[in-house]
Amino acid sequence: MESNMFGKLQQQFLCCYPVNKMAWSTLQLPLELDAQRALIAATCAHPLNQRYPVRRSYQEAFVKRLMHVLKDHEELHDDIYDSLCGQLAKATINESAGDSSPAYAYKHYVLQPHEQITLRESNSFVSEGTTGLCTWEAALALADYLLEHRNLLQDKNVLELGAGAGLLGILLKQKSLQLPVQQVLITDGSEACVQLMRDNIAFNFPESDDVGKPQCAQLRWNQISEFPWTEYPSPDLLLAADVIYDDTQFSALLKALDYIYELRGNRCEMLLASTVRNVDTLHNFMQQLEEHHYQVTPCANVSACASHFCRDHTAAVQIVCIKR
Ligand SMILES: C[S@@+](CC[C@H](N)C(=O)[O-])C[C@H]1O[C@@H](n2cnc3c(N)ncnc32)[C@H](O)[C@@H]1O
Repeated sequence: MESNMFGKLQQQFLCCYPVNKMAWSTLQLPLELDAQRALIAATCAHPLNQRYPVRRSYQEAFVKRLMHVLKDHEELHDDIYDSLCGQLAKATINESAGDSSPAYAYKHYVLQPHEQITLRESNSFVSEGTTGLCTWEAALALADYLLEHRNLLQDKNVLELGAGAGLLGILLKQKSLQLPVQQVLITDGSEACVQLMRDNIAFNFPESDDVGKPQCAQLRWNQISEFPWTEYPSPDLLLAADVIYDDTQFSALLKALDYIYELRGNRCEMLLASTVRNVDTLHNFMQQLEEHHYQVTPCANVSACASHFCRDHTAAVQIVCIKR
């Protein structure tokens, strides 16, 4: 990706960062027509978006917001109108075909110029009976934390629980990042998530051999002993993001942790990232961890951690290290 004067807005657009929180203040207004054209070229008309489009309704909202930001300009470039008309036309075609809105679209998480992770994700927070078909804030925060603390990955076999769309595992195996991790296994209890993770792995590692990409499997916490453990490397580091929201799942998750820690003779640890939505729910889980004889240590400097991903910092994310 060319480094360009709209780099931040481009990064935010490609991963569908909320339009009302985008870095609009980085635009040096007024924008000449050429600059307006370049901004559209960096976002809606970006080759990645042309080939693997982000959600149509998001693109529409983005262009409308851009028109609002440029409302005092005497003239807007035709490409801005064309982008909006293009999105509205697609909506009309979908509606007339009886297809209200597509269930999936792409998101491109740009890490550095010429380096991004592309995931197909659900357009709904909850679909097919799971919350895991899109990437949540806690996964982005844990990804940032690991990129800033690469030593935590040194020679570790990683197992992720409740991996959803697969962002973390795909990140850890990105060749260009050269993270010092060994094997990575990403798991989820939902069949739909496992299928989506498989697709996302295939998309991001089109040419890698098995060692060069994450492995993927279905693992339901309440059926932990039935998992074929001998087929995979013994996990040293467990990861989980945004899995502490439903207290009906706590006992299954604790049972799974007990099983894995026992399997490893306690020679493993876990990083658990949680968006702080309900303090009592989190507190309840932490208390149960202690009752199961785990030591829970908050990771220092999570909020001060550099953001490689576009994150909405208004939602606090807590990361804890769990040992026994
Ligand atoms: C909110 S999503 C988080 C997905 C991903 N970690 C992220 O942060 O983007 C929670 C995930 O936990 C998975 N999950 C919930 N209960 C589970 C269980 N009992 N066994 C295995 N996975 C479970 C869901 O299928 C879902 O993918």
